[in-house]
Amino acid sequence: MNNTKESTSPAIGTVALKWHNGSLELLDQRLLPAQEQWVTLKSASGVALCIQDMVVRGAPAIGISAAYGVALAARHASDEGWQAVIKQAIRELSASRPTAVNLFWALQRMERVFGACGDLSEAQKRLEDEAIAIHQEDLAANLAMADHALGAMGFSVGADNTSPISVLTHCNTGALATGGYGTALGVIRRLHEKNLLKQVYADETRPWLQGSRLTAWELMRDGIPVTLNADGAAAAILASGEVRWVIVGADRITANGDVANKIGTYSLAVLARYHNVGFMVVAPTSTVDMSLKSGAQIPIEERNGVELREVRGVPLAPEGVSVFNPVFDVTPASLIDVIVTEKGVVRNPDIAGMYRLFG
Ligand code: MRU
Repeated sequence: MNNTKESTSPAIGTVALKWHNGSLELLDQRLLPAQEQWVTLKSASGVALCIQDMVVRGAPAIGISAAYGVALAARHASDEGWQAVIKQAIRELSASRPTAVNLFWALQRMERVFGACGDLSEAQKRLEDEAIAIHQEDLAANLAMADHALGAMGFSVGADNTSPISVLTHCNTGALATGGYGTALGVIRRLHEKNLLKQVYADETRPWLQGSRLTAWELMRDGIPVTLNADGAAAAILASGEVRWVIVGADRITANGDVANKIGTYSLAVLARYHNVGFMVVAPTSTVDMSLKSGAQIPIEERNGVELREVRGVPLAPEGVSVFNPVFDVTPASLIDVIVTEKGVVRNPDIAGMYRLFG
């Protein structure tokens, strides 16, 4: 196959994944911020392992990577048994992580294209094109969501005389977690571009530390004012009256507007409601799962207790201590002020509002 197609993210400081010379290149997020190392993948199994091990993470980035994983399976298949190879790749990729629905959404798209291909060379071309389209569409969705979100916060386009606001965010939802720009962090980027941002408070996001290792790094690279705080400091920050909006991403949004996102999001939503601070969820439609009635049906990933017991091999807890490590929680729709997608916004989400936009 020729190696001419390329896909990457826009001209901002950070890129997490690239399709280059017929390979998937991933910035190894396990090593940030200490080292910037890229991993080159040529197989679907390699991509599945990278998703499982969090070389790449964040719901949209997982979906995009999985799509490229299917394209890689086609690229390296031979005329003998190519269909079985691609089916096996889809199975393996879909077992990599359970909560972010973007993974399954992207694989279903790839599967539909695969099902319509008559031979291997058609599959190679069409699956590569589809993966690149998924990547580019995610980036376009991020940019559209940033516009919708500013409107939902009450900023009118072109308003230059509005006072800047401070926001608080959780986990990493930026260029590192998406096709580029970001979901919640994309909104924050846009506030900054419009001089509407005073300060971002970034929860450190225990236990994997996406906030301190990734969000703080990504924002600082782009010159966006960020203050890092321990997760437990969020209550005091919201109580101070300094923050106008809590802005987070999502891994899966169900038909009633419940939202699964990084563990700790639910407690932030409770805090925001108590302190009369707006709570906004920003996610592309690839994160919306209208097949599930409520958040109770979302599979919540539990990861190895070592993530709590150790940091990079250094013990933080007594050896052998029992650990509960769910890495996502579900925020009930009733605590959410607005869900922002590229299709538009759902205020005070409930089943009727969700069906109006996604029915
Ligand atoms: O475990 P992670 O790092 O993949 O979890 C990421 C999150 O929970 C993000 O908030 C979510 O995926 C939205 S990313 C745009």
